[in-house]
Amino acid sequence: MDRITVSASRGPYSVLIGAGAIESLGAELDKAKLGQRRILISSERVWDFHGPLFRKIGADRTPILIEDGERYKNLNTVARLFDQLVKVQADRSTVIVAVGGGVIGDMVGFAAATYLRGLPVVHVPTTLLAQVDSAIGGKTGVNHPLGKNLIGSFHAPSLVVADPIVLGTLPRREFRAGLYEVIKYGVIAEPALLDRIRDSVTAIFARDGDAVAPLVAASCRIKAAVVSADERESGLRRTLNFGHTIGHALESVTKYKQFRHGEAIGYGMLAALAIGVARGVTPKSLYEEVEALITQLGPLPSVADISSKEVYAAIGRDKKVVAGTLHFIAASGRGQTVELTDVTEKEIKAAVKKIGLRA
Ligand SMILES: NC(=O)c1ccc[n+]([C@@H]2O[C@H](COP(=O)([O-])OP(=O)(O)OC[C@H]3O[C@@H](n4cnc5c(N)ncnc54)[C@H](O)[C@@H]3O)[C@@H](O)[C@H]2O)c1
Ligand SMILES: [Zn+2]
Repeated sequence: MDRITVSASRGPYSVLIGAGAIESLGAELDKAKLGQRRILISSERVWDFHGPLFRKIGADRTPILIEDGERYKNLNTVARLFDQLVKVQADRSTVIVAVGGGVIGDMVGFAAATYLRGLPVVHVPTTLLAQVDSAIGGKTGVNHPLGKNLIGSFHAPSLVVADPIVLGTLPRREFRAGLYEVIKYGVIAEPALLDRIRDSVTAIFARDGDAVAPLVAASCRIKAAVVSADERESGLRRTLNFGHTIGHALESVTKYKQFRHGEAIGYGMLAALAIGVARGVTPKSLYEEVEALITQLGPLPSVADISSKEVYAAIGRDKKVVAGTLHFIAASGRGQTVELTDVTEKEIKAAVKKIGLRA
């Protein structure tokens, strides 16, 4: 079992990673003196698969189940969750335990941030994406009809428990989508991850714990180090946006229907690498290495019908544009990044055409 400590403004918290980690959740909560009352919140799908794993946590009643899926990630679902919390009389002695993917984690985190002006939240992420990314760092929130994650707050968890065992039931496409985020960590910080994925892709897809747990642990360590140093995304945390400027734009112009988030990031990373290569910042060999790895994982949904003009327009509406300046993360080598603030429309359009978009 790996234990990583994240420092946050409201105090440090542990991320526990390893097969069987959920078994020790009850003891961990006791040890951290978290909540005399424990309220589990999950979705029907996740709970049907993994509810039995939580028998020993000492929760005092059955879980609150909320709708799962991006289209339910909104204030209505959170409002219904508040109704439930009032009904079960959640109070200041309560800890909320979120069990699910990134959608559940973000919504439950947001509810925990605001209910009674803030209750402690524990994340038990059940998708690869949530384990390597969304459960750590304290970003919470919901979508607005006019934009993704527009409403939210920072609310660091009190504990994160990432148990690779639950990934066994994840559909292959969801699992693969999470792997693109692991590739991201390889490019920005730990090239050995790229080698590891390439060399054990079969065992990884078979969800072999010995192959998957090290990917989760390494990714968590990188995310933990970055958010510990820069909780509010004023500098270093932006490196995590590698592949996300163009990836988010692809998701937005396709109304979040064509890609899983990680798939869009797969394309976004290739486009970012292409921009770097064209500028002479990124070694061409790195572009080729990542392209080969992405191809090895399996086909990405086609982008041939997406207009590069629309993608460029969507970038302008992104949260990563701060006071009119786009902070673009490029790779300057294996495991190294550089922030560019002068990437032009022409460069972006050329890069997205290179990865297959139409004019
Ligand atoms: N807070 C952050 O820092 C952060 C970072 C990245 C992404 N996100 C957010 O995360 C969300 C995406 O999360 P996601 O990719 O986990 O998707 P998700 O939460 O929608 O889960 C994907 C699907 O997998 C199912 N599922 C979850 N666990 C399962 C399991 N163990 N077995 C079988 N099925 C399971 C879910 O029911 C759902 O249908 C987005 O809304 C994104 O904005 C947040
Ligand atoms: Zn991401």
